[in-house]
Amino acid sequence: MQLIDGKAVAAKIKEEIAKEVQAIKAEGGKTPHLAAILVGHDGGSETYVAHKVKACAECGFKSTLIRLESDVTEAELLSKVEELNQDADVDGFIVQLPLPKHIDEQKVIEAIDYRKDVDGFHPINVGRMSIGLPCFVSATPAGIMDLLAHYNIETKGKHCVVLGRSNIVGKPVATLMMQKSNPGNATVTVCHSASENLKDITRQADILIAALGVPEFVTADMVKDGVTVIDVGTTRVPNANTKSGFKLTGDVKFDEVAPKCSYITPVPGGVGPMTICSLMKNTLLAGKKSIYK
Ligand code: GUN
Repeated sequence: MQLIDGKAVAAKIKEEIAKEVQAIKAEGGKTPHLAAILVGHDGGSETYVAHKVKACAECGFKSTLIRLESDVTEAELLSKVEELNQDADVDGFIVQLPLPKHIDEQKVIEAIDYRKDVDGFHPINVGRMSIGLPCFVSATPAGIMDLLAHYNIETKGKHCVVLGRSNIVGKPVATLMMQKSNPGNATVTVCHSASENLKDITRQADILIAALGVPEFVTADMVKDGVTVIDVGTTRVPNANTKSGFKLTGDVKFDEVAPKCSYITPVPGGVGPMTICSLMKNTLLAGKKSIYK
């Protein structure tokens, strides 16, 4: 069993980005600039955004954090989005999700100029990804593909089973895994809460991508020997023994599943660090106007 070290791969990619940014600056080019809108004070969102701001500094990017209170109106948020759309210095920006219930998330996503949508959530980017055109690919699926590439894990012709059909992970990662590319070119099955005979399907997986958000859902009896397991779960499970009062827990029961695996991602330190790294890659592409002019 080999552990997939997302932290190490992400550090290496960020180093490469930093070098490129240094070269851009040395030639008098524009410093890539990422802005993030954070609404409210959700603990998870605060942490994620803080990591994104820190990663920007590591890469040599400029970053701007815009904080709005949780009672901000939808109109006020949309007006802030429009301001960032128009701001020539901002190359890309994100609106951290989830948003308070009174705000229509999809409306906000669609208000973002797709050319600055470094999260890759806008329907134009999602659509372009699904037909294999250049676009901003959302961070978690892109990070998973980078990990598979880094470890030279064979995907062509393999059976990839995806657990979960979210717009952020399940659907896009299934799309990328079935695309005629490397990594990719796999036979893909997507399972979800209505899937019958789940175990019969997951036991066929050469590559199992668990993205349901149910802590320790995948148990040893659900996988075959030699499987590659990518655990996307990051649920904060209350735990009295940790300083923060919770333990970040994946969708896979790691201790019993790991011995059966060829490769497995740990939680934390697997997919998580790659996600932020993908956002940095997209920001660099946005800064260079590599995808959209
Ligand atoms: N919430 C959880 N993951 C993400 C992400 O990748 N982007 C944004 N904007 N919000 C998130």
